[in-house]
Amino acid sequence: MPANYDNSKWFYDQLSGLVFGKTLIRAQTYLLDRIKPGSEILIAGGGTGKILEAITSIYPSGLKITYVEVARKMMVASKKRNTGKNEVKFIHDAVENIQPAVKFDVIITPFLLDNFTEENLQKIFNRLNQLLAPQVLWINTDFQITGKWWQKFLAGSMLLLFRIVCSIEANKLPDIQNCFSRNSYRVIEQQTFWGDFILTASYQK
Ligand SMILES: C[S@@+](CC[C@H](N)C(=O)[O-])C[C@H]1O[C@@H](n2cnc3c(N)ncnc32)[C@H](O)[C@@H]1O
Repeated sequence: MPANYDNSKWFYDQLSGLVFGKTLIRAQTYLLDRIKPGSEILIAGGGTGKILEAITSIYPSGLKITYVEVARKMMVASKKRNTGKNEVKFIHDAVENIQPAVKFDVIITPFLLDNFTEENLQKIFNRLNQLLAPQVLWINTDFQITGKWWQKFLAGSMLLLFRIVCSIEANKLPDIQNCFSRNSYRVIEQQTFWGDFILTASYQK
């Protein structure tokens, strides 16, 4: 059963702002200017849709975006975002269920993959792989543990909160970077934020 982030819609942005300030949105927009104009883009798990406004401030037009979000209230909020003259197709579903007619040149997964257990991460990854063009640019932003005690503590607390409120399945961070490398993706660029706790990286096969 997919997580239900509807229960967190009323506090999600406020809480993340309180803890991380603007870092979460800064991290997930860091590599967006690497996208080529005219690209077919898949955004999966965009939450309240802040990323749509961020991408629109870089590209006010010319992008073809498929925006997939499984939580209804998150999707309602996302549809209110300014998307300029970009073409945006909103799909209210789990990303693993979509059957798009196109292959995507760019995929953006902002704080999505940490929701899954190792086992399901691989399943979602396999499914996403099928939706991507051969030279896809995959921009992923997520938390990582680099050995500092407080990272483990904070990640554990966040996962516990979202397990209770939104029924996410993960009870520890899956090894997302390992998932990319064992699926033959190499890092093109990367940048860490918030004392290494957040990693934004672009990958290609
Ligand atoms: C941790 S939140 C991140 C939201 C947003 N990207 C941000 O950074 O503020 C994860 C989001 O992914 C969505 N989500 C979880 N599983 C999903 C799935 N299988 N398909 C599409 N969206 C999903 C949730 O509803 C939620 O909005």
